[in-house]
Amino acid sequence: MSLSTELPSSQTEHNQHNAAPVIQETRAIILAAGKSTRMKSKTPKVLHFVRGKRIITHCLDNAIAATHSRPVVVIGHAADEMRAAIGAAADFAMQTEQLGTGHAVMMAESVAQGCARLLVTYGDMPLLRPETFKTMIDLQVQTGAAVSMLTLVTANPRGFGRIIRNAQGLVTAIVEEVSCSPDQLLMNEVNPGVYCFDGAWLWGALKRITPNPIKGEYFLTDLVEIAVADGREVRATVTHDSDECIGINTRVDLADTDAALRQRLNKMHMLKGVSIVDPNTTYIDVDVEIGMDTLILPNTHVLAGTRIGADCTIGPNSILNNARIGDRVEVRQSVIRDSQVDHDADVGPFSHLRNNTHVGEGAHVGNFGEMKNTIFGRDSKMGHFSYLGDATVGENVNIGAGAVTCNYDGVNKNPTILEDNVFIGSDTMLVAPITLGKQARTGAGSVVTKDVPAGALVVGAPARVIRRDQS
Ligand code: UD1
Ligand code: MG
Repeated sequence: MSLSTELPSSQTEHNQHNAAPVIQETRAIILAAGKSTRMKSKTPKVLHFVRGKRIITHCLDNAIAATHSRPVVVIGHAADEMRAAIGAAADFAMQTEQLGTGHAVMMAESVAQGCARLLVTYGDMPLLRPETFKTMIDLQVQTGAAVSMLTLVTANPRGFGRIIRNAQGLVTAIVEEVSCSPDQLLMNEVNPGVYCFDGAWLWGALKRITPNPIKGEYFLTDLVEIAVADGREVRATVTHDSDECIGINTRVDLADTDAALRQRLNKMHMLKGVSIVDPNTTYIDVDVEIGMDTLILPNTHVLAGTRIGADCTIGPNSILNNARIGDRVEVRQSVIRDSQVDHDADVGPFSHLRNNTHVGEGAHVGNFGEMKNTIFGRDSKMGHFSYLGDATVGENVNIGAGAVTCNYDGVNKNPTILEDNVFIGSDTMLVAPITLGKQARTGAGSVVTKDVPAGALVVGAPARVIRRDQS
């Protein structure tokens, strides 16, 4: 991020406070009442997900990190859905009719009044960093300006309001694209939409905005001219980071945002000691943890809720979704959802663990295996194309090739219990509910319909005991 704050020497600094108490007097107002027509979706655009987290939640989290206070979200379109998705993370202000961004902020007055300053931003900009918000807040605190704001210098100003500066280089207005002259359209300093307002000035100033003659809306951006007319300062901080300032209006913007955030997250993990062979094909969600010296191979998705330990090798072509992975684990070309794999175990290629499966330390799940809601004990092995569903497997159990738990009788899911050191012969069908005692064995091709006592060997279909426990 490249932020440079311009503080013209002719302007004196005043209203200098000690930062700590002042920060608590700052609240964020996030505008999200619009209809998001361009997204072409049943769902409000800010409720779409970027790297495992809703757009609006990114905005809220970033604002909370900067202000240490509860944000106010202005809602209107699909208000019930918005409230349900955001829940207790924010307070809400209703804008029943969407009469423009200035009008939207006005609607927050009853909820947000009394704050020393208000950080105002748009709910469709999830990549704005907390540090950027903090820079705006600090600038307002240091200068007492009516407005401190971010500007973006970009080669592609299309869609943004343009920044107008006077001969001294001070910002005097923002002109919306609809109102721009041909010369103004060529300007490459634009308004990404992050402002910190003096709370004592804001609410009165909002009431002086008049509807834009072309669009008939109350534009928040008119506050800059109102501040200048009031003889108050407008301070600007310039960024060149256009990725940080992506506003999501269409699904194209959504994909651009995802790509930019993916790069940011991959870089963060690499700088923390994770090797990523090909960041362009590595898809890591936010709030994922990965230990040092873990290697992520190409085309791997490490999705929300996943924690991976140290010294693991994950991928290629793997999907981990809400997975807990210990240290020194290998996962090759496999899918793990809502499941756990402990230290030194290995999975794959081409295996699928799901619904609260727990693979113990040192266990081996080879190729074409599926486990559902199964506890698979320490050092147990399942090498080749088998299925375990609703099973509890002890330690050091061997599951032969092609063995299957027949856990579903058409109505109920039934449990299978395999105690320690059980040996399941190739192609065994375990018709649940069923329990095999310690060290029990099944012959190849057995169809086991009754519990097997510890140490016994069963064979055939249906399987019968041919040897009792010898021990
Ligand atoms: C706005 C800025 C523009 C800036 C751009 C940055 C204004 C007038 N213009 O333009 O200078 O360059 O953002 O992306 O502010 N919203 C409401 N209620 C309303 C209207 C909008 O809550 O009545 C919300 C929308 O849900 C959206 C946000 O405000 O999240 C921005 O609205 P949008 O119409 O997209 O503004 P832009 O035209 O992009
Ligand atoms: Mg917009």
